[in-house]
Formats: sequence, C-alpha cells, structure tokens
Amino acid sequence: MEGVLITGGAGYIGSQAAKELRSLGYQPIVLDNFSTGRLESVQWGPVIEADAGDKKALSEVLTENQVKAVLHFAAFADVGESMREPGKYLQNNYLTTVALLEAMEKTGVRNLVFSSTCATYGVPRSVPVSESHPQRPISPYGQSKLLAEVAVREFGLRGVLNWVVLRYFNAAGLDPERDYSSQNEPDFRIIPRVLQTAAGLRPALDLYGENHETPDGTAVRDFVHVTDLAKAHALSLEYLLGGGESRAFNLGSGHGYSVREVIESARRVTGRQVPYRGLERRLGDPPALVADIGAAESVLGWKSSYRELDEIVETSWRWYAAGMEPQAAALSQAGNG
Ligand SMILES: NC(=O)c1ccc[n+]([C@@H]2O[C@H](COP(=O)([O-])OP(=O)(O)OC[C@H]3O[C@@H](n4cnc5c(N)ncnc54)[C@H](O)[C@@H]3O)[C@@H](O)[C@H]2O)c1
Repeated sequence: MEGVLITGGAGYIGSQAAKELRSLGYQPIVLDNFSTGRLESVQWGPVIEADAGDKKALSEVLTENQVKAVLHFAAFADVGESMREPGKYLQNNYLTTVALLEAMEKTGVRNLVFSSTCATYGVPRSVPVSESHPQRPISPYGQSKLLAEVAVREFGLRGVLNWVVLRYFNAAGLDPERDYSSQNEPDFRIIPRVLQTAAGLRPALDLYGENHETPDGTAVRDFVHVTDLAKAHALSLEYLLGGGESRAFNLGSGHGYSVREVIESARRVTGRQVPYRGLERRLGDPPALVADIGAAESVLGWKSSYRELDEIVETSWRWYAAGMEPQAAALSQAGNG
C-alpha cells in the first residue's frame, strides 16, 4: 500500500480525504497538531501528533513510511480571524508550508497536493473565476495562502517537486456515510451558522452586508461538498503519480448562491425560521465568488456529485438531527462566528 501523508488530516476536509484515499487502497498517514482537528475524525490510518512546521518530525514520518506524496491541509482558515491576527496566519499557513517543502526536498518526496483557496483571487473582476485570474488577496488569510502557493511553485521550479494546487471555493456539507459524531464542519462558516440559527442555538444570524453589488445585495458564494473535494484530492494524487504537469485547479460547483438563498434553502430543508439581523459588510469579504471548474473537469476528470444547494444543506442539517446539538451549543457559546 502506498503511503500518503495528510497534514491536517484530523480536520474537516483532511479527514474526508483520508477516507477517500483508504477506499482507493492508499495508506493515509495523518499528521496533525489538533489545534482545530479532533482525534475522533482520524479513522483510516495511523496518526502522528506533531506540528506541520516541525521539520524533524516531518522528515521522520516521510522516510519511515516511504511516503509517495503529501496532501497539505494543515492551516488556519478563518478569514475574519485573520483580519484580527495576521501574524498567526502568515506563520501557520505560509512559514509552515515552507518548512514542509524543505522536509520534502530533504527526504526526496516529490509529490504535493496543496489546499489553497478562492480567497487568493481577492475581489474578482468578473465571475466565474478561472485559474488564470489575477491573484490579489484582500485578507491576511488569502495572502498567507498565496505566499504558500508561491513557495510551492518555487520548489517546483527547482525541479524537486511536482505539485497540484487546489483552490477550493466554499467547502460545505457532511458525509452521510460517516458517523456524524466524527465530523466537524467549522462553525464560523455560513451554512453551519444558518443551521445553528434554525436549530435555535443562535437567536439570529448575523448577516454581513446587504448592499453588495449582487442581485439581492447579499454576498454570493460557490459551495462545494466535502465529499466532492475529497474525490478531487484523490484524482489530483493520481494525476501527479501518473506524471501530470504541475498546475492549479479551482474546485467549486460552478454555481453561485447568495446568503439570502442559503437562508431560503435552510428554511426549506429544516422547516424552521432563520431570523437574521443585517450588519455592515466585513472587510475581506468579496461580493461574489463563483468558480470556473472547467479545468478540474476536463483535466482531472472530476465531477461534483452535489449540484443543488438544498442537497448540501441537508447533509449538514442531519448533524443536528443526529443529536449533535449539545456540541453545537458549546461551540456557539465559545463565541465563534
Ligand atoms: N473550509 C473551506 O471552505 C476551505 C476553503 C478553501 C481552502 N480551505 C483550506 O483547506 C484546508 C483544510 O481546511 P478545513 O476547513 O478542513 O479546516 P480544519 O480547521 O477543520 O482543518 C485544519 C486541520 O489542520 C490542523 N492544523 C492546523 N495547523 C496545523 C499545524 N501547524 N500542524 C499540524 N496540524 C495543523 C488542525 O488541527 C486541523 O485538523 C486548509 O488549508 C484551508 O485553508 C478550506
């Protein structure tokens, strides 16, 4: 079985990728410092508790397990928090990636799939956004990921690395095949916040910005289901192992939904009200982000299986229906979102 190191494999998307790789016969090896991830989410292979910036720990894991490739998810991913604590993001998302690249060079591990983001595009000139769109991030989170992309490209130019950069738009949903207690959709994201409101765990949704240049004034986002993201990682891995050339791919559904449409979807799926209060636009929030996913479809052969927003919201709502409310209550009391 070929070993694949998954940094951040105890997190929301990384744990799903571990499940996908295991089902295809790879040996996923998770490395995570559990800053946001959870041990219950690691179910498909061994786990090493370490920091993804710890070159010594990385070198040991990479050589002892004859790792063929790395999927690098480990990062902080809250745009709002990055506006308040930019150093935390530049350190963990950029400098940690440089340390990983150095450890890969030292140990001769040549294949990397890197989790990047639509936040690297900043405010798009038009949507849908293709991979060749200029990257001008407007948040420290986006900057930290763009800098990490630059580092990845530099190591590629040195001839020591083959890479795929995956720029996800808004990851969403949960895997209906997985135990719901093992999953963890970050609760600062819009769909969990809307559903927490529907579940009565928040008195009202904070709706940031009703005067964006969008059809209904609220921000438009492109939601891609977490199981589809995991499949794209497996396809990217096979693409690299098959000699594919290094490049970036957008991952989204290719369809934009406004925050108001998310609220409507939650009302349909849950049969409950979603009260909200309108607030000022947040710095770092572009009005509309929608992916052109043509390259991932034609080059990787990727196809998203969740196309409708209601289907995605439904998979998240089942988490509440499965009795996970106490956990959600604890999360919302912690003041997230
Ligand atoms: N969720 C989204 O919508 C989205 C969109 C675009 C890109 N991404 C990227 O996808 C990746 C995964 O995001 P997620 O939503 O699963 O977040 P998550 O917080 O659930 O997962 C991140 C994981 O990385 C671990 N981690 C963080 N820093 C670490 C470090 N220095 N060393 C070891 N482990 C560390 C955390 O403990 C956690 O398990 C991130 O790189 C994020 O930037 C996410």
